[in-house]
Amino acid sequence: MIAVNPFDLVLFGATGDLAARKLLPALYHRHCAGQLPAQARIIALGRRDLSSADYIAFISGKSQKHITEQYFAVEQWQEFIARIDYLKLDAGSDDDFASLAEHLRDAQDRIRIFYLSTSPKLFAGICQRLESGDLVNVHSRVVLEKPLGHDLESADLINSCVESVFSEQQIYRIDHYLGKEAVQNLMALRFGNSIFEPLWRHGHIRDVQITLAEKIGVEGRGEFYDSTGALRDMVQNHLMQLLCIVAMEPPISMDADNVRDEKLKVIRSLEPYTAVTVASDTVRGQYGAGSVDGEQLPGYLDEAGIGKDSRTETFVALKARINNWRWSGVPFYLRTGKRMHEHVTEVVISFYSLPHAIYPAVEECESVNRLYIRLQPHERVELHLMAKQAGDKNILRPVKLDLDLTGSNQRHLDAYERLLMDVVRGNQTLFVRRDELNAAWKWVEPIMQAWDSSSEAPEPYVSGSSGPDRAGDLIDADSVGWIEDC
Ligand code: BG6
Repeated sequence: MIAVNPFDLVLFGATGDLAARKLLPALYHRHCAGQLPAQARIIALGRRDLSSADYIAFISGKSQKHITEQYFAVEQWQEFIARIDYLKLDAGSDDDFASLAEHLRDAQDRIRIFYLSTSPKLFAGICQRLESGDLVNVHSRVVLEKPLGHDLESADLINSCVESVFSEQQIYRIDHYLGKEAVQNLMALRFGNSIFEPLWRHGHIRDVQITLAEKIGVEGRGEFYDSTGALRDMVQNHLMQLLCIVAMEPPISMDADNVRDEKLKVIRSLEPYTAVTVASDTVRGQYGAGSVDGEQLPGYLDEAGIGKDSRTETFVALKARINNWRWSGVPFYLRTGKRMHEHVTEVVISFYSLPHAIYPAVEECESVNRLYIRLQPHERVELHLMAKQAGDKNILRPVKLDLDLTGSNQRHLDAYERLLMDVVRGNQTLFVRRDELNAAWKWVEPIMQAWDSSSEAPEPYVSGSSGPDRAGDLIDADSVGWIEDC
């Protein structure tokens, strides 16, 4: 186990949903794994006037629900919460920052992590107050939650403010998809094996599909979601990061900048959209009423916090092209949506069929080799091959080489566990660099602009379906079709 230096984690937005659902459970698991040094402290900050005991009572009820029973132990939880102090802090109050400085005064040479789990509108102000309150030193790091801005200009403004206080080496922009075990496995599959590399390119791969489908709707985040939409919430970050991992060249090492340089090259090679290609190669949808798993659910417009005439998209499908030697001519089909019929995050690589078939065609089965990399709900990698069916006839049937990644007894780290420990260790490989983020905004901006200026509303789709009809048309036009089942 790699030793970790003592640290103070200063958590802005500690009464929020992310802290309860992800951050504290992640730290608890690392505590149980013996990875947090005895002196590591968590300084929880929120606007509410609470004592540490009140905060711990409030957050315990919420966080424990997100820890699997099998891994929860009262004694370890008690040890863990003893690390937490709560301080009331209003992001606009110099006095509150002075109290924070006082609290941290005895630990000047510890790693000091400021985790900003707040609205990005507060990032610049918080960073400035951290600086003027003399809270930032060479041991400090800042973690920024997504979405970072609303477009290129606002993201750039936030980044410039943050960078006037922290250097790029101190800034950790989180995209939690990069911390997922299956994403690490996708990299290992590509860069730890020799057999895929010669095939991983145009000429062999016919198309790539990446799907991030959720059954959930806006889940009490109506106000945030309505001003964000699926393009900003899922495409500009999670989907594009997955696309980068699939399409990047092998980096010269796992060093942070080597990996990020390669991802950046992919984003820069993406063909920019024009008004014409936005119309032909993008689809946006919005869920209507329907049922998911037998539960009758309201449409998006009837959710709390949503404008009655909102045109915010809850579904996006795109056809993307990467203009470089490896990928020229290979379409990448991307889609994400809320309230879909299944919860699945998956990359499917389809290879070309044989140039000449010597076996009789098998009915109801396409003789295409496919590699499925499933991230959620169960992590697995499957390679679909054709094999001879037992018997006297030379008929082929599809078989699956299946690598069940959840099969081992070892508990898999949640993305936030890995990412938080990477921040403590100072490893930026799985964090997004500013130029990457800018390039991603630049790529989605023509889509945002075309949609904003269009008189058309997003196409409605029924909750519990596979999205709007036009998403099917987008891919059918290339005689492909979305792959629904692994
Ligand atoms: C978040 C989005 O970044 O990712 C949410 O804001 C989305 O809208 C979530 O539900 C999905 O993450 P995961 O890990 O559950 O697939």
